[in-house]
Amino acid sequence: MRILVLNGPNINFLGIREPEIYGKETYQDLIRETEKAAAELCEPAAGPEGAVRLDFFQSNHEGALVDAIQAAYRKYDGIVINPAAYTHTSIAIADALKAVGIPTVEVHISDVSRREDFRQISYVRPVCLDTVSGEGIPGYAHALRILADHFRTRA
Ligand code: DQA
Repeated sequence: MRILVLNGPNINFLGIREPEIYGKETYQDLIRETEKAAAELCEPAAGPEGAVRLDFFQSNHEGALVDAIQAAYRKYDGIVINPAAYTHTSIAIADALKAVGIPTVEVHISDVSRREDFRQISYVRPVCLDTVSGEGIPGYAHALRILADHFRTRA
């Protein structure tokens, strides 16, 4: 299972930006913890097929995220995406996810449902299998488990 983990603007500033909302852990911590979760998800009995392989990409640019989604076509089995502020504005990212048709889980570190009105809209939510919100960095591992369950029940 190959999974692309995409993060949008300012996620590279985790640990610096609003720690009272996003915590003290950094983007590097996010990568390390999510990699660890992927390794724990591996099913050794399934051999190499059971491995969950992750690639990470973060950008502050909407078009770069669209390019990364397009480049994922036929290359990845699933996508975990935190589009950050583009969640609430980007039809282009939602269209790209729809275009490639790769099963995707939306993640938010904070609980967006308890925040400002402008964060209540998500353009990507309708094109995602599920949304994980307010679980901090472990939310990324939760998203991986949702994808793994999705593939298990589909197999
Ligand atoms: C976020 C929530 C967004 O509203 C915000 O713009 C972000 C991060 C989150 O992970 O909680 O940058 O996606």
